[in-house]
Amino acid sequence: DKGNHRHFMQKEIYEQPVVVAQTLRSYLRPVEEQVALPDMAFDLSTVERVAIVACGTASYVGMIGKYWIEQFARVPVEVDVASEFRYRDPVLTPGQLGVVISQSGETADTLAALRHMKTHGLMTAGIINVPTSSMAREVDLLLSTHAGPEIGVASTKAFTCQLAVMAALATNLARAKGRLSPEEEQEIVRHLREAPQALSHALAHDDDIQAMAGKIAAARDVLYLGRGPDYPLALEGALKLKEISYIHAEGYASGEMKHGPIALIDDQVPLIVLAPSGPLFDKTVSNMQEAQARGAQVVLISDARGIAQAGENTIATIEMPEVHPLIAPLVYAVPVQLLAYHVAVAKGTDVDQPRNLAKSVTVE
Ligand code: F6R
Repeated sequence: DKGNHRHFMQKEIYEQPVVVAQTLRSYLRPVEEQVALPDMAFDLSTVERVAIVACGTASYVGMIGKYWIEQFARVPVEVDVASEFRYRDPVLTPGQLGVVISQSGETADTLAALRHMKTHGLMTAGIINVPTSSMAREVDLLLSTHAGPEIGVASTKAFTCQLAVMAALATNLARAKGRLSPEEEQEIVRHLREAPQALSHALAHDDDIQAMAGKIAAARDVLYLGRGPDYPLALEGALKLKEISYIHAEGYASGEMKHGPIALIDDQVPLIVLAPSGPLFDKTVSNMQEAQARGAQVVLISDARGIAQAGENTIATIEMPEVHPLIAPLVYAVPVQLLAYHVAVAKGTDVDQPRNLAKSVTVE
């Protein structure tokens, strides 16, 4: 049932404040301000390396997780798309934690990667939305997302719920490794608890996004830029736009622009820049300005402070609430999803059932 919404995708985008709160509830102890994972049969303090494997949108959660786990827990992380992991003969050693991420829990390549990890004696954890799925049954540690059924083929609410669980996993691992003081953990928990409301604030800008979607709908190519944990979000933005609007789009780490992609820039190419205020803001903006100097049609997604500082000479700005960098990838997922949604609606494509795609990819 789509309720008041025109498409399942729209409904699922709007459910995010509720389902992220619901998911966080299972992983946060509000009184102690601590993160808590379910009981597990292995000791997280023994984890020496982490291997994260997933496909598509879920793989971008893995990439963001790498930033978080390495920053908080100082444990090295490698991230692979499952179809590559299976066949590249990865170096797997005991003491390594294998993490799979999947909405359906049935994606053939991810499931095969999980089995490969288990055969090699890894401890395994799975961030999974369907609790009855094959992956949910086979992982050693099930970390459920509570996004509820996701019907739209393009993943939205599963993504933000996966990020919430990934943040909890990174925090718990950091504590187990002795890398986090109780005060630091409390601060992380406070930021995570702000996420649902920040998601609501982000959704409140839907009209602004709808109003500028027409400018993007006419484009043949669109580029997305982000830095640090917001770089995988640029990849997610590009994937979402491609999938449902059929416009060619690419995401880049903003510092990579001058190593090639800047050659694509002219006044026909919209550049969507994800730049929350924070330690990386100035760097991202300087990459953005290099592109503007070459005629790029910039859409700046930032908070009021960022827009005041860098919003000139853009074709549009989309204002997000000012949030801690930790939760920025969750919050900035909203405008990225809504932009793809409104562009697809403007183009009249089948938003919930894009051509050539299936919700669950059970063949490799
Ligand atoms: C993109 C999308 C896909 C899935 C991918 C993995 O919007 O939905 O890229 O993320 O097929 O699916 P799951 O998470 O079910 O393993």
